[in-house]
Amino acid sequence: MISKKMLEALNDQIHHELESAYIYLSMSAYFQAENLPGFAQWMKTQFDEEMIHAFKFYNFILARKERVVLQAIAAPQAKYDSPLDAFEQALAHEQKITGDIHKLYKLANEEGDYPSISMLQWFVDEQVEEEENVGGVVDDLKRIKDSGQALLLLDRELGQRTAVAQEDTAAQSQ
Ligand SMILES: [Fe+2]
Ligand SMILES: [Fe+2]
Repeated sequence: MISKKMLEALNDQIHHELESAYIYLSMSAYFQAENLPGFAQWMKTQFDEEMIHAFKFYNFILARKERVVLQAIAAPQAKYDSPLDAFEQALAHEQKITGDIHKLYKLANEEGDYPSISMLQWFVDEQVEEEENVGGVVDDLKRIKDSGQALLLLDRELGQRTAVAQEDTAAQSQ
């Protein structure tokens, strides 16, 4: 059995992951409008990954015979000052999500909820990767500064990100 407190926290995390997806979809649209299709593609892949994250929590709650309770998702920001502004906001957002995951992990440990601990371990590792990926683009954009040519090159590079990691795809089809 999942405790009431843990169940609420897991349902909250579905909300956080869907909110993340919504933010990245908005960023994808922003980049497309700015004529940066590679950045837009990168953010669309990020959206796909966040949807998979949301479904991992959704499926986990249902597998444990508990209730999924969905919450309202706030409208994301539609405009950003620059690509760097968008990516800095994405990084700050991922850092907040890492904090959420760590709180969940701590709670699961306090409650001796071993299935939740096991499930959350994947997310602890995933957040390290998320911050590294987003932070890497922030660093690139800082180095680029106002070079339009370098920005176009980075756009080409980011556009190559299409595939969602295999383990994610496997998890999605469960
Ligand atoms: Fe996520
Ligand atoms: Fe994320």
